[in-house]
Amino acid sequence: MYNIILPLIILVFFSCDTKRKNIQIVSPSNNIKIIVENDNNITYSVYFKNEPVISRSLLGISFKDGSRIFEKPFITNVEEELIDDTWELPWGEVNKIRNNYREKKISIRDDENSMLVDLIFRAYDDGIAFRYFVNDRESEGLEKTIIKELSEFNLVENATAWWIPAYGENRYEELYRKSNITNLDTVHTPLTIRYSNGTHLSIHESELVDYSSMQVFRFEENKLQCDLAPWKNGDKVRTRFPFQTPWRTIKITDSAGELITSYLTLNCNKPNEIKDMSWIKPSKYIGIWWGMIIGKWTWGEGPRHGATNERGYKYIDFASKHGFDEVLIEGWQSGFKGLFPDDSVTVSFTEWTEDFDLEKIQKYALSKGVSLQAYHETSANTVNYLAQIDSAFSLLNRLGIKNAKIGQVGNLLDRSEYHYGQYGIDYYRKVLLKALDYKIGVNFHEPIKDTGERRTFPNMLTREGARGMEYNAWSGGNPPHHTTILPFTRLLNAPMDFTPGIFDLRFKNLDSDVKLEFPVTFTVVDSGNGYNQLAFISEESVWKRKSMICDTISSNGGSIYKWTITQDCQAGKWEWGVVADHADLGRYNIWLPQLVGDGTNREFKVSKDGHVTGQTLIIIPSNNQDLSGVYSSDVKEEFDNQRVSTTLAKQLALYVVIHSPLQMAADFIENYDGVEAFEFIKDVPIDWDTTVVVNGEIGEYLTIARRGRGKKDWYIGSITNEQSRSFDIDLSFLGEGRYKATIYADSDDTDWDKNPNAYEINKKYFTSTDVHSITLANGGGQAIKLKYVPN
Ligand code: NOJ
Repeated sequence: MYNIILPLIILVFFSCDTKRKNIQIVSPSNNIKIIVENDNNITYSVYFKNEPVISRSLLGISFKDGSRIFEKPFITNVEEELIDDTWELPWGEVNKIRNNYREKKISIRDDENSMLVDLIFRAYDDGIAFRYFVNDRESEGLEKTIIKELSEFNLVENATAWWIPAYGENRYEELYRKSNITNLDTVHTPLTIRYSNGTHLSIHESELVDYSSMQVFRFEENKLQCDLAPWKNGDKVRTRFPFQTPWRTIKITDSAGELITSYLTLNCNKPNEIKDMSWIKPSKYIGIWWGMIIGKWTWGEGPRHGATNERGYKYIDFASKHGFDEVLIEGWQSGFKGLFPDDSVTVSFTEWTEDFDLEKIQKYALSKGVSLQAYHETSANTVNYLAQIDSAFSLLNRLGIKNAKIGQVGNLLDRSEYHYGQYGIDYYRKVLLKALDYKIGVNFHEPIKDTGERRTFPNMLTREGARGMEYNAWSGGNPPHHTTILPFTRLLNAPMDFTPGIFDLRFKNLDSDVKLEFPVTFTVVDSGNGYNQLAFISEESVWKRKSMICDTISSNGGSIYKWTITQDCQAGKWEWGVVADHADLGRYNIWLPQLVGDGTNREFKVSKDGHVTGQTLIIIPSNNQDLSGVYSSDVKEEFDNQRVSTTLAKQLALYVVIHSPLQMAADFIENYDGVEAFEFIKDVPIDWDTTVVVNGEIGEYLTIARRGRGKKDWYIGSITNEQSRSFDIDLSFLGEGRYKATIYADSDDTDWDKNPNAYEINKKYFTSTDVHSITLANGGGQAIKLKYVPN
């Protein structure tokens, strides 16, 4: 069991010459040197192995009343301490983390106003951290509003950066861009940067409490400045003195891989003070989820409702048989119609739908050694959620449900505030503390970014906060290189509920649990306008394109074209439409429903006994060639992007590469039946003792090896971007003894695009003196289980 441990090795305090204008903070092994200067302004600069990495950068905070720290700064005192301790993680990617740094607290009086600031700098061997502690010598409790934090991060060259833009509708759910610093937008942190000499930086923040989150933007040359997410009236942070800012952190390492094994951001959070953590339960889970994401089932009640008792039993039986801890069932709440965020006021967190009995299903789950993972979709209505949170969590306690996935779908919280402004930060913290009171583990979706809260609150298990698997169900998808950037950016010491494990990579087997379908014929009549290559698209078939067949009918010397397709459809209410090309007009992918009528998608219904009603016919009258305002493009796009752009072996490798204490097998359970590769998902741990980054370059490839918590078995995950590649890995990280390896590898003919499901399983014995040659297909991966065999 967990103990708070381990000795604090050195603690030195001293005051120093207060008139000094130049203060140095040197990391324990002299890797990092920080110089803080007072030259009427307070600035800092950073050296890594004697090379400058951050040039003189301004510090300060401006308030709405016109005052600023540091207007006329005067250093009054400096205190230093050297910390070297090691702490244990109740769960995680490693079991212990060393926290070793030199800190200087620089006390600064402002002679222009009455503010007193402790500027605290820490020099670690793998980076730096600083924060402001601000007080007012005349009026404690004073309320002031920050309008700008002046903290700068001035880079020494126009480096390469990997970033996502801030203030978009989808919060953190963006594809990463790679550019030079001079092409940076206002971007979220962590922001990953590479200098031409190979030094890597990650700018981020830590212990983000009662403040608004930090983004950064480029303001001139290679200079970055802090941007704070505003309240809706433009205020940045509403403070009450004394207050402290979050830590501003910069990891600084020689290689990309060392960013992953630097735990600086976590270290800057306060230690955990919870004594009993027996209730915190990492879990491997399946769910009634992918069916809604892909469009086959609905969150809301109706003929296609995903959360039914029948399906609940079936998923629980599967979980129990295959050793999963939890089943996530979304859409059980009464009043939840899945119309994000329109129904957010009607949603109940304690009552369930007619066709689903939460209490009965959870009792059944417990009887089978499984539990439900709760699902609370707030649709970003925090007022409605907070009003119900006590009763909602009491219900979970009563039913014995340990973990809750809590979603905040919506562009803004309560339709007015950023998820990552001070309003949002306060909201997420309130929910986390409430969860702590009720002993609930949290899985935030549409979350606030991870700033290492799990050190203090280990019930902060995992979160979304990036484009996860779900984006592959929708237009665009995640390209193969996406998962080779995430570990070096969003995932730096930050678990993600990415939900890997889709085996039906091209969505060919979506109707596996459909018992009854009825043929429906759809027709488009084009009275001689010249549209061609018509393709039917419907929600029923997950908006996949299906070619229609053309029949020509002669009429009065002209031709009429009748395009048809017959589809087997389930009972339910569905939408459909057709795309067409018009080569003569040079227009492609024309969305035909917009050409005729009110422009909306066509709707049809299939009753439970197969009776079809609604719109199954579109007639395009002659001379209907005005494409203005109609969705079309002038480039013929061959897109069939509703698919997962990886090989199957890469899906397995993601279980090692992406760390999460709640780890899902996301596919329909039928898609795992009889597939040998499923054994890897069943075997792979979710909790680790050791993590080794074997190799990796951002956006290119990555190989990670991890040893299971309390176990001798190792697991390796290796992934690549769009390119196939081969490399040898040195297995010297293995301990003594022999290991029986089960290797799930791309085959010779595997290719994420054309042949993604091909894989082979090879068995071998390895010791720590061996070298293993890995070959990855384009978009591919390799997953290895290394079972310890005692000598
Ligand atoms: C988006 C989340 O990422 C997904 O997991 C969830 O199912 C939907 N929102 C509905 O809450």
